[in-house]
Amino acid sequence: MSAPRVATAVAHPNIALAKYWGKKDGDGNVPAVPSLSVTLGGLSTTTTVSVDGGLGHDHFSLGGHVTGEAERERVRELLDRVRARSGSSDFAAVTSTNDFPTASGLASSASGFAALALAALRAYGVPATEADAADLARASSASAGRSLFGGYVELVPGEPARPVAPADQLPLRVLVCVTSEAAKSTSSRVGMNATKAHSPYYPAWVQSAEKNFKALRTALLARDLEAVGALAEQSALAMHASALAAGVVYFSGATLEAYREVQHLRKQGFFAFATMDAGPHVKVLVHERDAEALAKRLDAVPGVLRIIVAAPGEGARIV
Ligand code: PMV
Repeated sequence: MSAPRVATAVAHPNIALAKYWGKKDGDGNVPAVPSLSVTLGGLSTTTTVSVDGGLGHDHFSLGGHVTGEAERERVRELLDRVRARSGSSDFAAVTSTNDFPTASGLASSASGFAALALAALRAYGVPATEADAADLARASSASAGRSLFGGYVELVPGEPARPVAPADQLPLRVLVCVTSEAAKSTSSRVGMNATKAHSPYYPAWVQSAEKNFKALRTALLARDLEAVGALAEQSALAMHASALAAGVVYFSGATLEAYREVQHLRKQGFFAFATMDAGPHVKVLVHERDAEALAKRLDAVPGVLRIIVAAPGEGARIV
């Protein structure tokens, strides 16, 4: 029996400025609309894949705990895709840790599948470009494709994610207002399928998302921070409006309190715009020079447990 082949990768979550929500019909896990994100430094997922001919099945632990069957199945699916390309039928032991709350809308699936894709391709010895790794990650969690790259990244339906602008394109910081340490109750997959099936506003969301993406991409390339912030907040509100109409509610009381504070900060002349994903946290886009002061203001909002200050960061890598 040969020795285990081991690879470890680190990846960071990304926050979509222009969101995707909803998938194209069919099984390919292809997003219905283009999206544009910023990869965050500071928060990390570290994943090790050990391919071992002696194992009778795949093993997966997250944060030191064996996970439920649904998570195991998604890991297995990715490993099966890699095995099909490597010609090996050996199973693997996968261990993954996050240094931030898992599955609570902090994009742990994005960094998780990005790190897993990179580590699995390496451990199984499959020659792959970054675009191949991004497309493998995208098949498991569409937003994960974007975490392969640093800085600002776009994901256009039917294509692998690709970088658009470097991390220092804008003087931006993201203040993550953590409002819960619990796992979210409705996964993004379930939430977006329900929106597509039941929201009267889903077609309007798809139309507006295409326009928002183009405008945001143009503003980013022009280094127009104000426009990027305003368009990012519009994207989040339109996404949640379409979801709300289907009864898919990710906001908590604290989400709304934090959002009100962001509106208040704007009235006081600060650059501050909010974006929310499939969870109750509010991510506030601020100018880097105001990050410390505004983190204190947001930390004082009732229901906000703590603030994580994140800067645009690098893509996934083997360590
Ligand atoms: O990548 P998924 O399937 O977990 O969905 C992510 C959905 C949002 O985070 C709400 C939006 C986005 O584009 O990342």
